[in-house]
Amino acid sequence: MTDSRNEGVVNEDISWWRHAVMYEVYPRSFADGNGDGDGDLAGLRARLPYLAELGVDGLWIAPWYPSPMADGGYDVSDFLAIHPMFGTLADADALLDEAHAVGLRVIIDMVANHTSDTHPWFDAALRAAPGSPQRARYIIRDGRGEDGELPPNNWISAFGGGAWSRLPAQKERDGQDGQDGQGEHPGQWYLHTFAPEQPDLNWADPEVLEAFDGVLRFWFERGVDGLRIDAAPALAKVAALPDFDYGEDPRFLSNIWLGNPHWDVDAVHDIFRRWRRLADACPGRPIFVAEAVVNGAERLMRYVRPDELHTAFNFPYLQSAWDAGRQRHAIDATLAALAPVGAPSTWVLGSHDEVRPVSRYGRATTSSEHFADGAGEGVDVALGTRRARAAALLMLALPGGAYIYQGDELGLPNVDDLPDEVLQDPVFRRSDGTMRGRDGCRVPMPWSGTAPPFGFSADGVTPWLPQPESWAVLTVQAQDGQEDSTLSVYRKALKLRHEIPALATDAFAWRPSAPGVLDFQRGPVFRCVVNISGEPVELDCDDAADVVLASTDLDGGFLPVDAAVWLLDGGVGGGFRPPRSLERPAQSIAPKERS
Ligand code: GLC
Repeated sequence: MTDSRNEGVVNEDISWWRHAVMYEVYPRSFADGNGDGDGDLAGLRARLPYLAELGVDGLWIAPWYPSPMADGGYDVSDFLAIHPMFGTLADADALLDEAHAVGLRVIIDMVANHTSDTHPWFDAALRAAPGSPQRARYIIRDGRGEDGELPPNNWISAFGGGAWSRLPAQKERDGQDGQDGQGEHPGQWYLHTFAPEQPDLNWADPEVLEAFDGVLRFWFERGVDGLRIDAAPALAKVAALPDFDYGEDPRFLSNIWLGNPHWDVDAVHDIFRRWRRLADACPGRPIFVAEAVVNGAERLMRYVRPDELHTAFNFPYLQSAWDAGRQRHAIDATLAALAPVGAPSTWVLGSHDEVRPVSRYGRATTSSEHFADGAGEGVDVALGTRRARAAALLMLALPGGAYIYQGDELGLPNVDDLPDEVLQDPVFRRSDGTMRGRDGCRVPMPWSGTAPPFGFSADGVTPWLPQPESWAVLTVQAQDGQEDSTLSVYRKALKLRHEIPALATDAFAWRPSAPGVLDFQRGPVFRCVVNISGEPVELDCDDAADVVLASTDLDGGFLPVDAAVWLLDGGVGGGFRPPRSLERPAQSIAPKERS
């Protein structure tokens, strides 16, 4: 793999995505260029040098489309434009050019399961008659019960409650009953897997398929390098819309469902095969990454078969407890399931939907569920920070690609004490406040200074979500140049990933290790050791110089608890010495892989 970051332009390698580290930008919270308290594309463009210096290979930008923001932008009212809060299409074009010029790929979000209820299509569906082509674009049905007063089936929404909302009753039109205004059709129901403001599209309707082909082409022609497919398993539904037996726990637990009629239905793969053909015919060979929370690695594997999507986020890994056995199991299950289809894993520790790793790993319960909130359990931030740093070194040493969520490289904790009145996530309202939702991981980035808005906005401006005063020590400025900061650990790890050839291969082998310790090699000379046992472990390497990176200070020849270390050759044998480029400045060319 060439070091795209240092070439000044993105490299031509069509397999770049197999080992790339991408950085998720949640645009409203990244950087505010126009001083209105909301992040925007001007802010992001101004911070591209920061991302290039961080050493990531590209960005995934969460939805930037026009949207009433009923679900943080995942309720799209126009798929071919940019939200005025973020800028214009011209800003997006400039961003793409500038990102590419500093060697960063850009992928954007494709929210294809649903539109906003303000999308012109839904508006047309509302005004059209039952059975019309306008209604056929969505999943709209008569209700059950005498007057259609019951929803068509028992499906539930991912945000709590039922998945159906009722439309107003409709006067029958001329030509239907022959007497305008005489008959009244009882209000039909529309399906929404998420909030009522997000009606599900009907992907069995050819018009929907064709329209989205156009959306994909529109962005590929503008130069985006790929798409992140939102809620990928939701797109297809079993046509008869049968009830589902949710068992004793009627929550949206898609990670344990099998045979569910509205999630991970096999027909979904036909859509992705179509998209793959479309993408492969585009000059830049754009790629796809699926958000697919499904039942285990075997179901996930189906999304990344050679003629489907390129990669899929590894949620079982993200959700695993901070426990050596669980982590190892998640790693092994992934590698075993993906190897037969030749797909790399896509490791991930955080996103705009998840409790931040510092908080997750600093609680008594270190496992997590998709969309869970961080409230309810105390957090030991120092412990969580230590573990999150070790987890980052583990993740970045694994074979495949990885995604870093903005702010995780600063070790930001979740903000679990946001006042009720600022919470915007629909999860909060739909659960009657029993779940606080995901705003705690979406608090704007702290860049500089000693008080909010910490350089996110101009001084004096109040960001859309309040930042904690305690973030003064976590700003980019505060961590910059501090050898032992979380930011420095990330920067060094990302630099080494570009310089150590084995990290751009699929080589991976566990080494014998004590209970609670993860110890593996990537090729003959690179080794990663993570200590999740209750006590320090002795590192069996002969030379302190073998340690190229540690998540915390090493205690002599011992690796402390909740720490990780990267070694070159040490304890592996073979007489390898760190490549000289490791001591040279960033623009050095990666050394050739040793045979
Ligand atoms: C995905 C997004 C999440 C959004 C949901 C509905 O899970 O990551 O933020 O709420 O889809 O679009």
